[in-house]
Amino acid sequence: MLPHKQIELKLQAAVREMLPDTDVSIVLVRPCPDPKFGDYQSNALMSLAKQRKMNPRQLAENVLAKLDVSDICEKVEIAGAGFLNFRLKDSALTQTLESAARGEHLFFEKLSPPKTIVIDFSSPNVAKPMHVGHIRSTGIGDALQRTLRLLGHHVISDNHIGDWGTQFGKLLLGWKQILDRPALERDAIAELERLYKIVNAECDANPTRLEEAKSELVKLQAGDAKNISIWKEMIRLSQIQFDTIYSRLGVKFDFALGESFYNPWLGEVVDDLLAKKIARESEGAVGVFSDGSLPPKEDPFLVNRDGEWIADPALARKSDGGFNYTTTDLATIDYRLKTWSPDEIIYVVDDRQSAHFKKLFAIFARWKSADAKKVKLVHVGFGKILGDDGKPFKTRSGDTVKLGDLLDEAEERALKNVSEKNPELPGDQKKEIARVVGLGAVKYADLLPNRQSDYIFNWDKMLALQGNTAPYLLYAYARIKSIFRKSDVASALCADESSRRLDATLKLDAPEEITLAKHLLNFGLTLEAVAEEYRPNFLCNYLFDLAVHFSRFFENCPVLKADAATRDSRLALCDLTARVLKQGLDVLGIETVEQM
Ligand code: ARG
Repeated sequence: MLPHKQIELKLQAAVREMLPDTDVSIVLVRPCPDPKFGDYQSNALMSLAKQRKMNPRQLAENVLAKLDVSDICEKVEIAGAGFLNFRLKDSALTQTLESAARGEHLFFEKLSPPKTIVIDFSSPNVAKPMHVGHIRSTGIGDALQRTLRLLGHHVISDNHIGDWGTQFGKLLLGWKQILDRPALERDAIAELERLYKIVNAECDANPTRLEEAKSELVKLQAGDAKNISIWKEMIRLSQIQFDTIYSRLGVKFDFALGESFYNPWLGEVVDDLLAKKIARESEGAVGVFSDGSLPPKEDPFLVNRDGEWIADPALARKSDGGFNYTTTDLATIDYRLKTWSPDEIIYVVDDRQSAHFKKLFAIFARWKSADAKKVKLVHVGFGKILGDDGKPFKTRSGDTVKLGDLLDEAEERALKNVSEKNPELPGDQKKEIARVVGLGAVKYADLLPNRQSDYIFNWDKMLALQGNTAPYLLYAYARIKSIFRKSDVASALCADESSRRLDATLKLDAPEEITLAKHLLNFGLTLEAVAEEYRPNFLCNYLFDLAVHFSRFFENCPVLKADAATRDSRLALCDLTARVLKQGLDVLGIETVEQM
């Protein structure tokens, strides 16, 4: 068991002894923010003392009296208002590294009991090209599914594709009247986009045209065979585009149950909302209004206009009988609960939909309150990608940037850099490095900022070999790999990647070695923090610090030139760093190359 877990369990036991009626699961051990004070810290006693109106330092002293961690820690210190600071014994540090070097763990443990977590991400709309914005939901969602799986949770990823809605009336009309077959064969999505734009403009100008489009939609909704088959063809063509992008990005879903999947239940959902008086009719439509249970500021069904609170209902059925986005999402939650009984459902969707999700979760709690208590519904929101001008990122001609084009450009730019740096490499190898570096750079630049902030898309910055970038991390990894290539001893030591048997005895003397070693130990804690707060950026920063600590170590501590025992110990540190880098990048959805 990892040292911080051992400390945590013992601390929880000591707290339970002192305060028998306490839920000790909130007693957690985290990395100490400042290594001056220790390696790990717990601040849980302060909140426990506060709840009980106790003196926090006194409580800390009483708990300490019952806590024996002397096998792995130096003397435990009480600091400030009642923090506990723990400093690992050298022996505990080296033992943990040695067991990792033998392949027994990689500084993380599966969480028990595992949770069942549904994650809804990417979710593009049919008949439209995937654009640069889709990298956000797709990348963050994928990093979260990978983190949660690595920690042992049972994850169900579901791509909630937008394959239903009023746009199909216009698309059907266009398909029947002005479809250009050869163009459809060349680039289906571009042709569908063209049809939509033309018919949409006509509908805006001409009410009869709009009526025509509506009647195509009504026929589709009524199950008209011809319209259904065209609609299915549009979905099939879109799916090909989505799949191409997902396979480039290495993203997989367990399910892709689009919005249309839920059609059969939408009528029942609205009837039930009406019967339970959660929704009511208003101007021919059906909507859910405030129930007055919350102060106006927190009430998702009210908005403030000029100082006055006015109703902002969620529509469940339009006056023409069509159903809304919210209705589909209600049916979707219900289906997911019945099918998978998840502990959590996570929606990785842009922050502009935060009002939608607030309403959705509130309605669900009113509609099925018993079920709602069993599941945690989370909107994992994110901000926008901006251009250099601080406005939403566009092409030079002002169009939205297509995701496929963006990924092409990333690979091309990376190829230029690789060719300048390594002109001697064979062409295929250069291309493969450029693919990994280019895609990695785009993904990493998107995962690195706090997800709720907007960020400026900058090719030079994300592709730079210096700074907190994917190329920097990939280079650090490749550099370690080259150490092992250069030396026979080293490559013999690490010959067999799959069955680790690096039986080195670790001896950590130089301060750079100790800093690196302690940082390695925090990998699992970082993964847990990513999973708890749905923030892959914690892992980006961890990996960057790891690469920086490694490079300080490597500059100050000779490896291959050291005496045999020191060399083997240092090679083990190199190898562990490479493995954590590789595993960490993999969790972020980024591949690695052995040479760069
Ligand atoms: N297709 C939607 C859009 O492009 C996103 C769907 C997100 N998931 C959900 N369950 N609402 O805006």
